[in-house]
Amino acid sequence: MTRDQAQIVEDSFSAIGPVTLEMGEAFYENLFEIAPELRKLFSREAIEQAMRFSEVLAFTVSNLRAPERLLPIIRGLGVRHRELGVAAEHFAPFKVALLKTLQDKMQDGWTRDVEAAWSSTYDMVASEMLAA
Ligand code: HEM
Repeated sequence: MTRDQAQIVEDSFSAIGPVTLEMGEAFYENLFEIAPELRKLFSREAIEQAMRFSEVLAFTVSNLRAPERLLPIIRGLGVRHRELGVAAEHFAPFKVALLKTLQDKMQDGWTRDVEAAWSSTYDMVASEMLAA
């Protein structure tokens, strides 16, 4: 991703205000609608997961320009996900669900550039997790 894309991700994310539990919940609702077969992978309380996914999202956005802080966390998550049985093909529905959640939240703010910037961000995180 480019420096400009980091800027777009930061600006669009701050425009939607603080990360709420509701956004995490909306993400999981979208995910299980797109890929109901993933539901069985999730054992813990949905709310707990929703919180943790949102925390990582916020952490990623704040550290896009600090790979020395971001990458160890993302790679650690990658190892943990492999242990959970998460495979490469699972990352595609996650991406669709995340982009949809952001689009619903940003509405008119969701332009092609914003979509491209978030798409690159997600691809970077997913490829680091998978390479870990
Ligand atoms: C950008 C991609 C992703 C991020 C940032 C992310 C983030 C997280 C975080 C922060 C946790 C909690 C960590 C922990 O318990 O140690 C978690 C747990 C989990 N994630 Fe992900 N995740 C991603 C992709 C995926 C994918 C593609 C799947 C596959 C379906 C997945 C399935 C799970 C499962 C099954 C758990 C454990 C939930 C439980 O304990 O019941 N994640 N994820």
